[in-house]
Amino acid sequence: MVSSFALKAVTALLAATPATAFLVGDLQTETHPKMSWQRCTGKGGSSCSNVNGEVVIDSNWRWLHVKSGYTNCYDGNEWNTTACPDNASCSKNCAMEGADYSGTYGVTTSSNALTLKFITKGQYSTNIGSRLYLMKDSSSYEMFKLIGNEFTFDVDMSKLPCGLNGALYFVSMPEKGHGAPGAKYGSGYCDAQCARDLKFVGGEANAEGWEPSSNDANAGVGKKGACCAEMDVWEANSVSTALTPHSCSPEGYSVCTDTSCGGTYSLDRYAGSCDANGCDFNPFRVGVKDFYGKGKTVDTSQKMTVVTQFIGSGSQLTEIKRFYVQGGKVIVNPEPTIPGMTGNSLTQEWCDTEQQVFQEEVYPFNQWGGFSSMSKGMDLGMVLVMSLWDDHYANMLWLDSNYPTDQDPEKPGIARGDCPTSSGVPADVESQSPDAQVIFSNIKFGPVGSTFQQPA
Ligand SMILES: *[C@@H]1O[C@H](CO)[C@@H](O)[C@H](O)[C@H]1NC(C)=O
Ligand SMILES: *[C@@H]1O[C@H](CO)[C@@H](O)[C@H](O)[C@H]1NC(C)=O
Repeated sequence: MVSSFALKAVTALLAATPATAFLVGDLQTETHPKMSWQRCTGKGGSSCSNVNGEVVIDSNWRWLHVKSGYTNCYDGNEWNTTACPDNASCSKNCAMEGADYSGTYGVTTSSNALTLKFITKGQYSTNIGSRLYLMKDSSSYEMFKLIGNEFTFDVDMSKLPCGLNGALYFVSMPEKGHGAPGAKYGSGYCDAQCARDLKFVGGEANAEGWEPSSNDANAGVGKKGACCAEMDVWEANSVSTALTPHSCSPEGYSVCTDTSCGGTYSLDRYAGSCDANGCDFNPFRVGVKDFYGKGKTVDTSQKMTVVTQFIGSGSQLTEIKRFYVQGGKVIVNPEPTIPGMTGNSLTQEWCDTEQQVFQEEVYPFNQWGGFSSMSKGMDLGMVLVMSLWDDHYANMLWLDSNYPTDQDPEKPGIARGDCPTSSGVPADVESQSPDAQVIFSNIKFGPVGSTFQQPA
């Protein structure tokens, strides 16, 4: 970063904050991009009213520098161990900056739409992907109670090739994030992988024991991980899509350590207490190969509306249903064509059947509570996440190709999409598709039946 600024500017850098968190730099004011959405009542989308929301980028993407200058406290994929030898010193020595959303991160909003660009070449750095949260006000996340409700959005997937994931999902994050500066600076992320690539966990630096990634110049894995239940409404590119609940015990935010975290970032994927795999509904994976993709029934070369219903009452989720709307036509989720599987929606029974038909050795979805855990996670209120990412662990092949790659693609559950098994290598995706992007827009939320005209 620049070192030519006058020292005078530097002394005015800090706002006072409690010792338990991070100081805030004032080189860049934090101004959340505005994004409106609609809350619906009544029937069929007839009575929806605007909500003025805003989005915030996760703290992992932010510049963290020493409070008395421009030296990085975290640079590339490593912590500065002089500034951050341990959590407590790091909190004292370093300041977190506001975000230049469009210039640095390629994030823009326009009324009810959010555009996330994949590669953004800024003045000082090249940014790859992003993760944003919907806020209620400048210091709190919007908390969604999904059970009994329906969540609808439009999405343009046309510029997302193999290896990319334009994701929209919910996690049981805390409403205010953690410590100061809290949700305002996008803190408090957690997911069912018990994320260990976070620079901040529970309001503290994850610096001690941090291992820089061998294949990602911007990431690493820390000792601590942040776990919670995760409802993946939309993990998709222009080739494949998956709808996937991931259970967790406990459901709300919890911190794990080292290998006991399990998930993507740990040696033993199943060592933790969250379901890293999920119970997924991917039309291609259940045999319907002509349903989703460019020129298919749901045509990913065009914008589409995605409707997800969380059927249930009180605090009990019983079923997750999916519809699409495109060109004014409602398209129902397809029935599986793999022998032994029936039903075009997710239920506890559907998940149990999928597990048996795909002959998977482990069933973490049920081990950590299945639908009952998802119900509890949803009852806590969930934060809406919208992100764009590439996959340094499995090249996104679990979404859009044959996976595991060494198994027979004819075996039920192995084929997930048309992408070659050699696709999705982040270095290739980043050099070949710098202009990739996803646009989420027109979010509507309300009781089941309130956001769109459901066919009888
Ligand atoms: C690490 O931070 C210290 C200040 O705490 C600074 O003097 C040093 O130059 C930094 N090291 C690197 C490699 O940036
Ligand atoms: C991390 O640092 C903060 C601030 O000094 C402190 O309050 C907290 O207890 C520390 N946590 C650990 C686990 O050392």
